[in-house]
Amino acid sequence: MSETKAKPEDFDWENIGFSYHDLPYRYRAYYKDGQWSEGGLEESSFMSVSEGAQVFHYGQEVFEGLKAYRRKDGGVNLFRPDMNIKRMNKSAARLVMPEFPEDKFIEACRAVVKANQDFVPPYGTGATLYLRPFMFGTTPMVGVKPADDFTLVIFATPVGAYYKGGLAPTAYETGAYDRAAHAGTGQAKTSGNYAASLLPGQNAHKAGFSDVVYLDPRLHENIEELGGANFFGITADGKFQTPKSPSILPSITKKSLLALAPEFGLEPEETVIPVADIDKFTEVGAMGTAAVISPVGSITHNGKKHVFFSETEVGPYTRKLYNRLTAIQFGDEKGPDGWVYDV
Ligand code: PLP
Ligand code: COI
Repeated sequence: MSETKAKPEDFDWENIGFSYHDLPYRYRAYYKDGQWSEGGLEESSFMSVSEGAQVFHYGQEVFEGLKAYRRKDGGVNLFRPDMNIKRMNKSAARLVMPEFPEDKFIEACRAVVKANQDFVPPYGTGATLYLRPFMFGTTPMVGVKPADDFTLVIFATPVGAYYKGGLAPTAYETGAYDRAAHAGTGQAKTSGNYAASLLPGQNAHKAGFSDVVYLDPRLHENIEELGGANFFGITADGKFQTPKSPSILPSITKKSLLALAPEFGLEPEETVIPVADIDKFTEVGAMGTAAVISPVGSITHNGKKHVFFSETEVGPYTRKLYNRLTAIQFGDEKGPDGWVYDV
């Protein structure tokens, strides 16, 4: 296989979708004998790893996702990268992997954005430069145990909307499968959770849905989250509700929207959300770094379709939250202190 490097002129920024492109530079650091190497930028997107590497057999891997946003003044913002490294270190602890230093992570993100700056999409296109940090066990082994050696990579790829249609509502279904066990790895951002979501996700796509709304793995009674985003619903009496559960990812977008909701007169609440109660929601959405805020037009549960606000129009609160969040991320409006990092 050979490397096909992307060129900035190849991109139609307003229509780039959400896919991998091989950019000139990525950051890598290596953990050996109990410490991280200095780390630095590397050009090749290919890595040489033993066939026995832990990650290929027992899935010792954690990852993150964050974005770089081109501002109107030409500069570039990162959104809450401190939260990504804190969560990555928590995921790493669950998977018996080493911590990576917070400051070093943020500087490495900056270095990757700077080195690939021609690929940060222009302001006003809605596109962003997605950063994908990940760490995996490289020690060759066949016995089930944690690796001793790890590689951390941060690559970047320009992206547009994750769910087809962007801010257009799409249809979802609940499913019979779980993505994570009650006391399993749902709170960790680790590849196994996503492997478990592939079949239900594919079934949902074949049936014409954007994704699955997972239910709690013990009872299948309460809403959890989507395959790649957290869930929110707005009630008729002005609550911004999002599920409380030990088996979902602690989303940075969710934490941010819980903080912003009161600006729009919404009362933020993390609570158990029975699927039997979903008709209480006047608007429903998916939220995440890739998903941003994606309106959920309908959820089909046990063969019955529940429509929220509209299957074609974006609800007023969803639009207000989307506009406010993206205005902060792109630097058009000031948000709470410490949310935006200049690259
Ligand atoms: N839930 C899952 C399963 C995800 O993959 C993601 C994406 O990162 C989220 C929620 C949203 O998290 P965040 O807002 O931190 O991107
Ligand atoms: C993200 O939003 O950053 C994610 O990692 C979700 C993934 C499904 C693309």
